[in-house]
Amino acid sequence: MRIHVTGATGFLGTELRALAPSASGERVEIRDTEAVQALFVRLRPDVVVHTAYRQDGEGAREIVVDGSANVAAAATAVGARLVHLSTDVVFDGRKGSPYVEGDRPAPCTEYGRAKADAEERVVAAAPDALLVRTSLIVGGPGHAPSKHELAARNPDGAFFEDEIRSPVQVGDLAAAVLELAALDLSGPLNVAGADDVSRAGLAELVTGGPVRRVPAPPGRPLDCSLDSSRVRTLLRTRLRGVREVFR
Ligand SMILES: NC(=O)c1ccc[n+]([C@@H]2O[C@H](COP(=O)([O-])OP(=O)(O)OC[C@H]3O[C@@H](n4cnc5c(N)ncnc54)[C@H](OP(=O)(O)O)[C@@H]3O)[C@@H](O)[C@H]2O)c1
Repeated sequence: MRIHVTGATGFLGTELRALAPSASGERVEIRDTEAVQALFVRLRPDVVVHTAYRQDGEGAREIVVDGSANVAAAATAVGARLVHLSTDVVFDGRKGSPYVEGDRPAPCTEYGRAKADAEERVVAAAPDALLVRTSLIVGGPGHAPSKHELAARNPDGAFFEDEIRSPVQVGDLAAAVLELAALDLSGPLNVAGADDVSRAGLAELVTGGPVRRVPAPPGRPLDCSLDSSRVRTLLRTRLRGVREVFR
């Protein structure tokens, strides 16, 4: 199976390529429709795993929305399956219980809106795409730290005690995504860790001690826990909770 990874130099992309060394990771600008098409025509991938994104800053919305639409259209044009990486913050965090695949996106941040719009554009261009919704990605002990772990180690940091996520270890996520790449699945699928913890709780697991806890400011997506029970029935890969990862 020929796999192409977008965002191959990123945190998840690096892990995907470590687990699947034959995958290609050549970078083209994903906002450039023709460049993406030409790359896929040349590489002829069977599966495209689309991780490339920018969370904020200049051009972020275009990279997420237009870039994802370009990747989806170019994958469809060469007959490749698409595994599109999405996020828990397509939800506003007000449901009061973990989100399941059937819940309707209702983002409340710029980034969440961009990723929710990207999902729609991806499905329009690649109706059989798999939309992998995941949560905060961590490395854990013995692995290079993610941006969330680096933030946790800031001694001046303050961490939201009421913003709940289902963090996932990057190797678990990459292995799960590669297993999913070989399965004939489409639509949204939650692929997150087994423990729901606050950002403060995560920071305490990372540092091994207490951190400064603060309430999240108004307008933040508070409880975006993901219920990943469906994916657990499909995969051999175990998606550990962060309490186990940092034990
Ligand atoms: N990190 C998390 O905690 C988290 C949580 C939920 C969901 N996700 C989702 O998981 C995916 C991967 O996240 P990550 O943290 O691994 O990402 P990351 O480390 O920030 O890496 C992003 C990658 O995208 C590439 N990229 C950015 N703009 C591009 C452009 N215009 N054209 C081509 N490539 C571009 C970057 O390459 P350059 O540096 O060369 O631009 C880099 O390789 C994303 O889709 C994200 O929405 C992540």
